Amino acid sequence: WRAVKLRPRRRPWRRAGNRVVAQAGSYKVAILGAAGGIGQPLSLLVKMSPLVSALHLYDIANVDGVTADLGHCNTPAKVAGFTGKEELAGCLAGVDVVVIPAGVPRKPGMTRDDLFGINAGIVRELVEAVADHAPAALVHVISNPVNSTVPIAAEVLKRKGVYDPRKLFGVTTLDVVRANTFVAEMKGLPLADVDVPVVGGHAAATILPLLSKARPKTAFTGEEVEALTRRIQNAGTEVVEAKAKAGGGSATLSMAYAAARFLEASLRGLDGDGDVYECAYVQCQAVPELPFFACRVKLGRDGVEEVAAAAAELRGLTEYEARALEALKPQLKKSIDKGVAYAQQQP
Ligand code: NAD
Ligand code: LMR
Repeated sequence: WRAVKLRPRRRPWRRAGNRVVAQAGSYKVAILGAAGGIGQPLSLLVKMSPLVSALHLYDIANVDGVTADLGHCNTPAKVAGFTGKEELAGCLAGVDVVVIPAGVPRKPGMTRDDLFGINAGIVRELVEAVADHAPAALVHVISNPVNSTVPIAAEVLKRKGVYDPRKLFGVTTLDVVRANTFVAEMKGLPLADVDVPVVGGHAAATILPLLSKARPKTAFTGEEVEALTRRIQNAGTEVVEAKAKAGGGSATLSMAYAAARFLEASLRGLDGDGDVYECAYVQCQAVPELPFFACRVKLGRDGVEEVAAAAAELRGLTEYEARALEALKPQLKKSIDKGVAYAQQQP
């Protein structure tokens, strides 16, 4: 495996006779919650992707301004805005990937699980529409608590008879992005070379960076492992607290960057690039007692192509990592069960 960069490998041009013309992207992407803190910068990054031909923006508020604004960028993706439940069908028709950052963010003192009460219903409703109008699309869930919202999405898709576990992802790329940044800073390594797998889930101690598996191979003292692990696990809270002084909210810019990186990787997989690996929270057998687990997966033409690398990565852990993996299991299982129970109780 190797790190995925925010840089498509498809040539941005093609030959037509003796002329060189721009290569048009061919993928359609919908962003649900596109006018929010993550949605807006993410929409801009997706508008800049040469792989995207159409960008559909959906929100319950303020989507017209974002659509008009982005539509003026002279990049090929055609932007269209949709608002209100009755426009969801049009937004989703024919799209290849649906990205969901809709929902409320944390305030200081809250856990991600404290968002369950509001965000569970938002994700359920949106994924029901995805099942009805884009049943073959890849679904990228950003809305927290990811540890529970992804199992909710899976149950909704199952109930609608369109669940394909290869196509449902909880976006945990931000954990990898943070781990790479913090390790590069601490060790004075070139950022572009660093790749740290982060497994488990996306909340507090369920976020488990595997520093022993970092590339390039790097030696860490026990204190460094402890400090890095804590910082990566608490990075979301670090942003929530820093933003509390002015307006509030949680990570939006780094999250938009991370979501754009994961989208680009998924599109490259759909496009037939045979060498695309990313960590994501997916249904898998990497840890048999946890039906969902964030791990490194190979992305291909139908979404997840292989999780073999994940199981291999969980072998040969350090004692610290093995203990942390054991410790996260009950917490993650509880969040998964909570999501499943919620979805199964719905009429
Ligand atoms: P935000 O409040 O700025 O934006 C959310 C947007 O969702 C708003 O525009 C809102 O109108 C919209 N929305 C609400 N209900 C909707 C519905 N039913 N349909 C469509 N749109 C709807 O919040 P944000 O900062 O963009 O964060 C969004 C979510 O992402 C939060 O739950 C946050 O915790 C989560 N998040 C996840 C990660 C991650 O790593 N997975 C990182 C950062 C934030
Ligand atoms: C993050 O990791 O930044 C997000 O999950 C948002 C949060 O609430 O911390």
